[in-house]
Amino acid sequence: MQLRRVCTPSRFLFWCVVAMAFFVVLMIYDTFRECESEELRATKRLLDNYHEQNQELKNDQFILKKKLKEAEQQLSSLSSDGKSKWVPGLPVIYLITPTYTRMEQKAELTRLSQTLMHVKNIHWIVIEDADAKTNLVARFLKQTGFNYTHLNVATPAHFKLASNDPSWLKPRGVLQRNAGLAWLRSNTKKQPGVLFFVDDDNTYSLRLFEEMRFTKKVSVWPVGIVGYLRYETPIVTDGKVTGWFTYFKPTRPFPMDMAGFAVNLALIHSHPGAGFSNEVERGYQESTFLTGLGVTLDDLEPKANMCSEVLVWHTRTEKSSLRNEEKMWKKYGLQSDPNIEV
Ligand SMILES: *[C@@H]1O[C@H](CO)[C@@H](O)[C@H](O)[C@H]1NC(C)=O
Repeated sequence: MQLRRVCTPSRFLFWCVVAMAFFVVLMIYDTFRECESEELRATKRLLDNYHEQNQELKNDQFILKKKLKEAEQQLSSLSSDGKSKWVPGLPVIYLITPTYTRMEQKAELTRLSQTLMHVKNIHWIVIEDADAKTNLVARFLKQTGFNYTHLNVATPAHFKLASNDPSWLKPRGVLQRNAGLAWLRSNTKKQPGVLFFVDDDNTYSLRLFEEMRFTKKVSVWPVGIVGYLRYETPIVTDGKVTGWFTYFKPTRPFPMDMAGFAVNLALIHSHPGAGFSNEVERGYQESTFLTGLGVTLDDLEPKANMCSEVLVWHTRTEKSSLRNEEKMWKKYGLQSDPNIEV
């Protein structure tokens, strides 16, 4: 009877509520813990991903560093032998460069040769406007390691520019370019090749040489900073040259600069009379040469993205003044050493 007294219905209810509350709390706790571990797992997955990606990046970095080192080694081997590479079977680009003695000559030849150093399969024909070849140019060409030909021919005095004449007054490089053409005709055969006239003061993109390498007859492209314009260019319609963007005498047969075209070597051989002349009207050198090669507008192959890109610039070097040489002597009794080649 004691028991029955203790276990009254209200007490029984009380304990039931307590037990239920306990279970509810337990269930909430459990759910909460499950949520928490789910979050933990997600975080862990993220962390794993992160480590994985980090490792991949480190691997990439390692590969890139290795590639950089290889590229640097290639670059240094390029500059250590310092000459253009030869790939058998690739058409040769014959470059004709007239040059003359002046203060800036070696600087300009150096800059040009360092462009040409990166062009495969070249033969550089350098013709001095002089009665004899100079040691400066001879030594210079030898150290390039290029395939080259060194020639000279003097422009007769009455065709020469006086020092105060504007550069357009008389044609320059006429006999020198002709000497280069004569050399080509007697020293090359019908091997695949292309001819390009390279001036020692212009600026050439390396891309230009690859644009012209497979010239069938005559390739053409724009020339930057020429003719007192931003550029001169052949006008291209539907992949064909149909006219010219040029201010000076646009009615000339081929109103373009010497730097604006390249010619297949076969054409030089098949037209042995084609060349330049001191007798033609101003601005007609290029037209005379190309007309002599029997070229028509239809033969022209527009390059440099259909003549929409400038890859050569008609840059000009300012004439240097040496006025302090004499003042140096007068004021300090000192002279620059004539044995130091500049
Ligand atoms: C020069 O030309 C010959 C082929 O005539 C070639 O074998 C050689 O590698 C060339 N050398 C250079 C430096 O281009």
